[in-house]
Amino acid sequence: MTPTPAQPAAKRRRFRIHHLAQAKAEGRKLTMLTAYDFQTAQVFDEAGLDLLLVGDSYGNNMLGYDSTIPVTLEDMMRATSAVARGAHYALVVADMPFGSYEDTPAHAFRSAARLMKAGAQAVKLEGGRPVAPQVKLLTEFGIPVIGHLGFTPQSENALGGPRIQGREDGAAQRLLDDALALQEAGAAAIVLELMPAATAAFVTSGLKVPTIGIGAGPDCDGQVLVWTDMSGLSASTPKFVKTFGNLRKDLVDAASAYALAVRRGTYPDPGHSY
Ligand code: KIV
Repeated sequence: MTPTPAQPAAKRRRFRIHHLAQAKAEGRKLTMLTAYDFQTAQVFDEAGLDLLLVGDSYGNNMLGYDSTIPVTLEDMMRATSAVARGAHYALVVADMPFGSYEDTPAHAFRSAARLMKAGAQAVKLEGGRPVAPQVKLLTEFGIPVIGHLGFTPQSENALGGPRIQGREDGAAQRLLDDALALQEAGAAAIVLELMPAATAAFVTSGLKVPTIGIGAGPDCDGQVLVWTDMSGLSASTPKFVKTFGNLRKDLVDAASAYALAVRRGTYPDPGHSY
């Protein structure tokens, strides 16, 4: 069972890579959120999340890019080291950015090793059978890998933007074949993004390793969301996102109240001065 903040810290164990398979075997849903910095990593760790994903959505959500394509390995290393310093229980997974792994397994290993040295405990990369050799080499050399199928944002130019995948005839079977190739190569879990719930359920039931869904319905073995979306900080969100907070309004209110107090001279008051 996932420890919650209500449980004494001593009872919490670090979530490790083998707990992914254990969770699937026990039918326990996996919980994952993105994190891009030290503070949010601390908060989500305290909240009891199993996994923190230093997603390359860092590019969209923190750096203001309109896609993940410009994100560099150095960007990911900086964010990963900050998250790793804040996470004491959750497993820290770092995304391998576009251009850091696709061409050869050796390139993938060099890039993944830098992310692991920065503090990652696993890496995630996008794609199916074509990247299976990369997954095999990384896992053989001690780097746990999570796969990513369906809508893969690094290929958004080829896919025609963020569109639901796996709808056409035979697509579910093709996705399962890709997932099986990743599983065979050693992937510890597979993220399924933007696909009909029935397709994700079909893929999930055909695998030994867990799936973690995002916009892929309720039947995956776990769920992941971008934290700025689920907390209500993002200005807009895709249809599949449920917001569990109102952070944008809370921050606007806090910043406005602060500015008003400064302008009125009511802050700093004697209680906040030395
Ligand atoms: O970068 C990211 O946030 C991701 C999720 C969409 C799974 O890869």
